[in-house]
Amino acid sequence: MTVIKSNKILASPIEYLYDNFLKQLRERKLDRPKIILMNKPFNLYLTDDQADTYIKTIEDEIFKKQIYYPFKKLLKKQTENILAKIEGDLDFIDLGPGYPDKTLPLLQYLSLHCNSLRYMPVDISKHFLDITIEFMKKYSYETIPLNCLFEELPQIMLSHKIFREKRVRLFNIGFTFNNYPSRKIFSLFKKYLANNSVGLIATETINDDITKALEPYKTKKAEVFNFMILQNIGFEQSSFKYFVNYKNSCIEMGFDVKKDIEISKSLSLKRNDKIITSISYRYPKEYFIKLVNRHFPKSDFFWAANSNICLVKIIGEG
Ligand SMILES: C[S@@+](CC[C@H](N)C(=O)[O-])C[C@H]1O[C@@H](n2cnc3c(N)ncnc32)[C@H](O)[C@@H]1O
Repeated sequence: MTVIKSNKILASPIEYLYDNFLKQLRERKLDRPKIILMNKPFNLYLTDDQADTYIKTIEDEIFKKQIYYPFKKLLKKQTENILAKIEGDLDFIDLGPGYPDKTLPLLQYLSLHCNSLRYMPVDISKHFLDITIEFMKKYSYETIPLNCLFEELPQIMLSHKIFREKRVRLFNIGFTFNNYPSRKIFSLFKKYLANNSVGLIATETINDDITKALEPYKTKKAEVFNFMILQNIGFEQSSFKYFVNYKNSCIEMGFDVKKDIEISKSLSLKRNDKIITSISYRYPKEYFIKLVNRHFPKSDFFWAANSNICLVKIIGEG
């Protein structure tokens, strides 16, 4: 099986992370308390250990009850409607499969209704790609893994021979949609969805009371998972206090510095500095619908019963 590797793939992920951290710490030295942004969506998955810990984190019952079970039910009930009119020779491009059990019902349906199907998982994490390849072995779909960033894909699609054939393309990002500012992820999808390709995004919308949406992120497992970014840089957990906030449509996770930490002779983290390790966007229902329609007017919304979980089918403008 060929694994397409991008040229820009982060060859030394930990060095990349550390350089990014130092660069921000050096900026405007006097500006305190400092807020250091380490929340690039892929920072959580740079090592095999992080990928394995992610799987344990989403196995938490609170996460399953709130997001995973309603989404699985939604797929079970609505797969046929979601995938209606998708036919011909299809490339199913799975953006960040993680553990791909949620993708499976879609692939099973498509394999029966399309002339031919190629499954293309795209992930910065080679470990997640390996897990995906292993998971899919039983199902004998033609699998072409791409070990690259989502952001590199438009260029790869223009230049790589596997994309030269004229085929229908379906891009599935699932809940990873929530980790990007909407403008950024929609502009990337506009590049993907030329020629009437189809995109699938998933989200949880919020009500006035945000308490319930914050719960899955307040668990010990979520704290350990978030801390791994700082652990990769070389920090001890005892120097930090975990926080989860909601503001400006973002669930923000990160750590407050409890006491000064010397990094080098001239650089230190100071008490009350903040490091943001991840952000998950959440919008009120009506706002989310308007937001999607503004970018992709030909969208269909599928809601899980009795919950705020939604899958949206978005169609490119041709
Ligand atoms: C939160 S997991 C999502 C798993 C699954 N799709 C779901 O909806 O539950 C995010 C996945 O996307 C990958 N990822 C995140 N940002 C990425 C990027 N910019 N380029 C490539 N892979 C990325 C991660 O390595 C990880 O496998």
